[in-house]
Amino acid sequence: MSKKLNIGLFGFGCVGEGLYEVLNKSNLLNAEIKSIVVKTKNKKRTLDESYFSYDSNVILEDPEINTVVELIDDAEAAYIIVKKAFEKGKNVVSANKKLIAEHLDELISIAKGKNLSFLYEASVCASIPIIRNLEEYYNNDSLSGIQGICNGTTNYILTQTNYGKDYKTALKEAQNLGYAESDPTLDVDGFDSKYKLQILIKHAFGISTSPEDIFNYGVRYVTKENVNYALEKNYHIKLISHAVKLADKVFGFVAPHFIKADHPVYAVENEFNAVIVEALFTDRQLFVGKGAGSHPTASAVLSDISALQYNYQYEYKKAESAKELYFSNDFAIKIYLGSKNEIKLKTFDFHEKDEIFQSREYNYITGWISFSELLKLDFNKEEDLFFAVLPEPFKSSEYFKRSEKEELLFA
Ligand SMILES: NC(=O)c1ccc[n+]([C@@H]2O[C@H](COP(=O)([O-])OP(=O)(O)OC[C@H]3O[C@@H](n4cnc5c(N)ncnc54)[C@H](OP(=O)(O)O)[C@@H]3O)[C@@H](O)[C@H]2O)c1
Repeated sequence: MSKKLNIGLFGFGCVGEGLYEVLNKSNLLNAEIKSIVVKTKNKKRTLDESYFSYDSNVILEDPEINTVVELIDDAEAAYIIVKKAFEKGKNVVSANKKLIAEHLDELISIAKGKNLSFLYEASVCASIPIIRNLEEYYNNDSLSGIQGICNGTTNYILTQTNYGKDYKTALKEAQNLGYAESDPTLDVDGFDSKYKLQILIKHAFGISTSPEDIFNYGVRYVTKENVNYALEKNYHIKLISHAVKLADKVFGFVAPHFIKADHPVYAVENEFNAVIVEALFTDRQLFVGKGAGSHPTASAVLSDISALQYNYQYEYKKAESAKELYFSNDFAIKIYLGSKNEIKLKTFDFHEKDEIFQSREYNYITGWISFSELLKLDFNKEEDLFFAVLPEPFKSSEYFKRSEKEELLFA
């Protein structure tokens, strides 16, 4: 017999209200929302005012509440709430990727010390069940890579720019449709995709990273010249959260990629998200689904609540085998780098150049470059520069060091 879950719910916005609705429609769970804590007094709600309180202790100090569901939009406040919930012996479900990306190891350690569960399936690509699959299904298969379209706002924008709209129009549309916030920085500059990549890397490879370790570059300065280049080559531009294991290193970053027509995410459009898992035995597998929205996100929260009925905990088993693995930015990729100003392009030191295009209006170079060259700039602040990763496997930096030495020998 599953145990009864008495839930204390923090947040009654897009996801919190969605959870209330899906929980009421699901009669499979032995769970009930006992209290809801929100922030703003006198806000119009769809439930009677008597359901709500504004003091977190109403949930945290209630001994009957055994489950805290944290669905607020403030990562700092969420950190305090989640720690206190563990202190009080309550299991926690959260959807807050920023909180998790910034504090995961500490929160895991506190939860483990008290034999409590900390589940967060909704934090990565909302309705796509990727975390539990990485934990359980791929536990015995050696993973070599994971890549995803992890942000619906930017995928919507890039879908529309691929169809000929300019960036500003596409962003405005995304805001009108409720996909993008009025300040879209976290989405369009790739921060949101980075937080999700950090969580994926933890569950896929067992490695802990902090937000500072991972390069994130978004789509703010994509131009019609870049889109036209992609269309000429039959590519789609997608913002990809990308991690690859090569020998004892895991490389990971967020950046626009040119995606070929035979790639599984080529046709994943608008607000949809996708994750590709690459593993030794299963080869390449694709998950597609809604990466945001009230009910899709709430469904992942519901699934975590359901798992709590059976005392489910993530075991982070891959952390054991990851002792010999480490996160690295020491690799080379093939990119397209474009600018109106050809002088700007000359400041980049490429290992090899494939194509150099110059005109009065626009210039670009394609070729192999060390990732460390790209780390020198904050591309999110460079209005007249755009780069995208070309469809070639990453190479270790050693590859080019070796060929440079060989060239010297044969000179
Ligand atoms: N929206 C999505 O599609 C989606 C998808 C995946 C993950 N998530 C994550 O889910 C979480 C919630 O997102 P959302 O879209 O539902 O946000 P939202 O619509 O902006 O709602 C946020 C809720 O949090 C409450 N809140 C804020 N600070 C609080 C505090 N200190 N104490 C108590 N309540 C507080 C707000 O209270 P008031 O109502 O009083 O203002 C509001 O009810 C975020 O971490 C987000 O990243 C969202």
